Amino acid sequence: MPSTKHIVILGSTGSIGRQALDVISAMPSRFVVDGLVANRNVKLLLEQARAFSVASIALLDVEGNRDARRDVEIQAADVGCRTFWGDEGVEELVKGSGAEMVISALVGFAGLKPTLAAIRGGKDIALANKETLVAAGALVTRAVRECHVRLLPVDSEHSALFQCLEGERSDEVKRLILTASGGPFRDATVAQLKSVSVADALSHPTWSMGRKITIDSATLMNKGLEIIEAHWLFGVGVDKIDVVLHPQSVVHSLVEFVDGSVKAQLGMPDMRLPILYALCYPERVENSRIPEMNLLEHSPLTFQPPDASRFHCLRLAKEALQSGGTMPAVMNAANEVAVERFLSGKIGFMGIPDIVEKTMARHNVTAVEPELEEIHHADGWARECATQIS
Ligand SMILES: NC(=O)c1ccc[n+]([C@@H]2O[C@H](COP(=O)([O-])OP(=O)(O)OC[C@H]3O[C@@H](n4cnc5c(N)ncnc54)[C@H](OP(=O)(O)O)[C@@H]3O)[C@@H](O)[C@H]2O)c1
Repeated sequence: MPSTKHIVILGSTGSIGRQALDVISAMPSRFVVDGLVANRNVKLLLEQARAFSVASIALLDVEGNRDARRDVEIQAADVGCRTFWGDEGVEELVKGSGAEMVISALVGFAGLKPTLAAIRGGKDIALANKETLVAAGALVTRAVRECHVRLLPVDSEHSALFQCLEGERSDEVKRLILTASGGPFRDATVAQLKSVSVADALSHPTWSMGRKITIDSATLMNKGLEIIEAHWLFGVGVDKIDVVLHPQSVVHSLVEFVDGSVKAQLGMPDMRLPILYALCYPERVENSRIPEMNLLEHSPLTFQPPDASRFHCLRLAKEALQSGGTMPAVMNAANEVAVERFLSGKIGFMGIPDIVEKTMARHNVTAVEPELEEIHHADGWARECATQIS
């Protein structure tokens, strides 16, 4: 009989967080959810807390007045849980919980501090929040080594690479091949890209995800972020990480070895599968929520090269990784600002790579292995810079 694993979910109200709870709800004897963290979605957070008999909740957004906060605390007490507030509150919740694993599924740079706190609190990490590794890859992976915790990828591509690399020697890996659906504008011309609407960009052909990653998928910045994520997770140089477009989103990624053999991992485009794998690693466990795959329904599987001349974000991410230091954090922050501006109708779709490129061009990389304070400083600087670019 496997022992019960205690879990905290950072970002439980988001797309990944909700799917993680769905997976867990099908295996009640294996998992106990100790804590849930959201930004400001009090209603859903309390519903989740009640459904999973959670001991503690935390809200990152501390904008509300004292009465509003008191009201949340009373409602939380009614369902039997304590409430924590802000970055410090999340840190207290994570470190004070008996959890062995933390699912890191907040969106954006906001995930960095709580994820680091979880690592330093000795928790294994199931990582969905790729921006954490993009902005602070050296710092985070160093903390993982020093604290002897596991960093397990939840991103479907990285879960695929992780599974393909199991039992293999790193010096026998020739290259990693990340697959990308290509997003809704895979075949669009530059002229068409200039006039796409927010609604067009939010309608992803194969995956249902949060708004920010959906826009990142449309610009291919998501694949750029994933190149950087793969570099830090697997210690492979950018020259050995390739991207191929695979519209069916069934082959989640591949590894080529020195003898010419290529291993791939396949599955339905459903995030609950990589979530399940990270939660149960190193075991493989059946879960009624995971849809079965019938290969015959997915034929043919096709592959094509990405067009860097239309999707500049791919190049920008590689350049950021090559520049190193604070540049990936700057690229990430500029992208977060640009995506928000696009979503609120202030800039066009092609304004996103434009703002990222101009912000990167204005940044001087100083520290080679920046500490947390330097990364925060670079992030803040890039946000200001990206906001001012018209
Ligand atoms: N969705 C996917 O299929 C998928 C696949 C692979 C990787 N990922 C990665 O997983 C992460 C989460 O993605 P998602 O699609 O689940 O995002 P999402 O649906 O937008 O959910 C984001 C979560 O983060 C919280 N949040 C939002 N803004 C925040 C802020 N400013 N500060 C702190 N917390 C904030 C939200 O809380 P409230 O609800 O309270 O606002 C919510 O719990 C991202 O890094 C994404 O790249 C996602």
